[in-house]
Amino acid sequence: MPEAGAEPGGRGTLIALEGPDGAGKTTQARRLEAALRARGFEVVAVREPGGTALGERVRALLLEAPEPIGPRAELFLFQAARAELTERLIRPALAAGRVVIADRFYASTAVYQGAACARHGMEPLAAGWGPLAAVLAAAGGAGAAPAARGGASHGDPAAADRRAAIDRAIEAAVALSLLATGGLVPDLTVVLDLEAEAAAARLGGERGRGDRFEGRGRAWLAAVVEGYRRYAALARAGRLPGRVEVLDAARAPEQLAASVLELALEVLGRAPAAAEAER
Ligand SMILES: Nc1ncnc2c1ncn2[C@@H]1O[C@H](COP(=O)(O)OP(=O)(O)OP(=O)(O)O)[C@@H](O)[C@H]1O
Ligand SMILES: [Mg+2]
Repeated sequence: MPEAGAEPGGRGTLIALEGPDGAGKTTQARRLEAALRARGFEVVAVREPGGTALGERVRALLLEAPEPIGPRAELFLFQAARAELTERLIRPALAAGRVVIADRFYASTAVYQGAACARHGMEPLAAGWGPLAAVLAAAGGAGAAPAARGGASHGDPAAADRRAAIDRAIEAAVALSLLATGGLVPDLTVVLDLEAEAAAARLGGERGRGDRFEGRGRAWLAAVVEGYRRYAALARAGRLPGRVEVLDAARAPEQLAASVLELALEVLGRAPAAAEAER
């Protein structure tokens, strides 16, 4: 696993499944888990937030908070849950050579508390960019100050400013996450890309889940979809650490599962666990 901090890395492999609500993360995490087990890999499945006593309590707090939680508090609650999950479950599993499949990891924070909040003018991450940029740079991301990047603003300066704010929010959220994980970066992040309308239709089809979606609104879901696309673009440009791949999640579950498995096996092909499994 790529490692930004000073702690020694394990032999295992960390794969994160990401994407907007209803994209099929949990469906694909289960399929991938089964497919890898069938090939002889030892797999540990985790979900965020959750997995530890603190994580499950944070999950309950976020889902059932008696009063609204501000975006900054939300950001740090997620990070606290992530710190515990990483320390208590993920790192030991990786040290034992296992494959860890995470149903959401820190890209979710970058997109929901970073990009989507910035898109809606409630960026909780505007301050303190300088020190965070250093954290990102140490992890192999670019970490350059947004102003220094400049670049052609294709016509609309307001749109360019908005994009820059979204990029900065994503990068700041990743830097904070790296502090929470002690520099742990997934070997592979698979983004399940699905238009907001299609995701909403999937969630609406589930009894009891429509409310949650309606509560957030369709504009929010669209901002999340765009946020994931921007996250992947930044990773491809070398501005974020780790490998990020985008898959078209509009396809049938079994087709999508074949693509997810292909990517996972490609990454595992370079890991010792794969060699052991094939012996
Ligand atoms: N490829 C697919 N095509 C059509 N429907 C799908 C597909 N994958 C999952 N579904 C259905 O869509 C719904 C949402 O799937 P799932 O729970 O896996 O998404 P999720 O990304 O984990 O959502 P959440 O973010 O809410 O946890 C489920 O009813 C599931 O059966
Ligand atoms: Mg899910």
